[in-house]
Amino acid sequence: MNSKSVLSGVLLSVLVIAVSASVSEKLLRVPLFEVGELWYRSVCTLTGRMLFLLTTWPDFYAVTTYIIVAILSVGFYYFYLIMFCPLNRIRILGDLGYRAEGKFTMKEIANSVRKRRMVGKVPAVYPNGWFGIMESHTLPRGNSTYVSILGLHLAVFRGEDGESHVLDAYCPHMGANLGIGGRVVGNCIECPFHGWQFRGTDGKATKIPYAEKVPDFTKVKAYVSKETNGWIYLWHHAEKEHKDVPEWEIPNLDNINNGRWTYRGRTEHHINAHIEEIPENGADVSHLPQVHGPMISAGVDLKEMWNTFWSFGHHKWTAAWEQNPAPEKHIGTLKLTHSLNLFGKHLPLIDMDVRAQQIGPAIVYLEFDSPIGSGVFVQSLTPVEPMVQKLVHNIYMDRKVPTIIAKFFMLGEALQVERDVMIWNNKTFVSKPMFVKSKEDSLIAKHRRWYAQFYTENSPKLTFQKESMEW
Ligand code: FES
Ligand SMILES: [Fe+2]
Repeated sequence: MNSKSVLSGVLLSVLVIAVSASVSEKLLRVPLFEVGELWYRSVCTLTGRMLFLLTTWPDFYAVTTYIIVAILSVGFYYFYLIMFCPLNRIRILGDLGYRAEGKFTMKEIANSVRKRRMVGKVPAVYPNGWFGIMESHTLPRGNSTYVSILGLHLAVFRGEDGESHVLDAYCPHMGANLGIGGRVVGNCIECPFHGWQFRGTDGKATKIPYAEKVPDFTKVKAYVSKETNGWIYLWHHAEKEHKDVPEWEIPNLDNINNGRWTYRGRTEHHINAHIEEIPENGADVSHLPQVHGPMISAGVDLKEMWNTFWSFGHHKWTAAWEQNPAPEKHIGTLKLTHSLNLFGKHLPLIDMDVRAQQIGPAIVYLEFDSPIGSGVFVQSLTPVEPMVQKLVHNIYMDRKVPTIIAKFFMLGEALQVERDVMIWNNKTFVSKPMFVKSKEDSLIAKHRRWYAQFYTENSPKLTFQKESMEW
């Protein structure tokens, strides 16, 4: 273990103790200087009781023995989950980002806000580019599923050879959904209704159980897809000439594909906003101190997070965004630094240098270096409805970094995103913002010009019935 790791460990411990002491102070309503003494007394009492139980144990006739074993088993199970298993944090619409109103449930409020909110003059709802369909590990060999994104209905399956394929979900024979109940046979998918089989590579029918011959016209649409960085991606384009020929490729993240960085967890957020609002946040540097300045322990409610209790610390950010030159004009690069100040002192342990690459309209790689280790957040943004986005982050970190540390990073990032969600779920899209002369606002304007390259003449516009916006 090098001195850097020791320093990191010590600093992390100090942070944990500082936060725990503050929480104890608040919960127990005692002065801070008495918290240490209370902790010491509790540890002594607990240790004494444990020693007593261990020295008198096991008494197989006592009910308490079984209760203790059950409690310890549950404790060890949760300890194992927390320390070693990847994070999986899912927040659907209504879970966060809305303000409670009377006796309404959060789901009712979410639906109501969706209907009455002023949407604004939004750009086309499905831009052109690569979109994440699903994470690779959720589709084992020989499995199939149905996915509905970008107004498309897709059957996604993995053949016996391990390759993933994406076909139109509706069978051309009589419309059964291939992704619901469809069986994988070799590298084809078999329709659950009358057993027609379709090849994954091109959608051609290879077998019709009751027909002597399989005519040439019997096929289903096959979509262009690619699997890399733990994701199955779909190429989507509104113009005929680019539908099946991607204009650009998704860069591979070598440290993921060669196993140097390993998977440590995911977060999934469902957001009620136009897709462009989310990447635009990357170029919006003036929201960083406002939305992401207060400590993450202060929570995700934008009004409550200014609570003076947590004012002993704050996050500091610097950011710069620019678009890449040709031939990478579909990529924007954000350079971000993060630091944490506690009691006026800089805590270098969770300093982070982030290099975020926005690759097209819907994929971001946030590669970071910290004193604890390096890693990447792979972000995928997919419209599941015109105004509902599914935002997924996966974290990969250097295999030497303990999973609990990677999960701590991921949770910190998720809480910051959840503050943005409160803005996104309730805002309107302003097509002509009231910008003032400043570096900050001109950067957002620059991002809008950059993002406009992903809309073309036939990109689908927003047309909907507000009454049907229940979920
Ligand atoms: S509907 Fe698919 S085979 Fe008949
Ligand atoms: Fe943000």
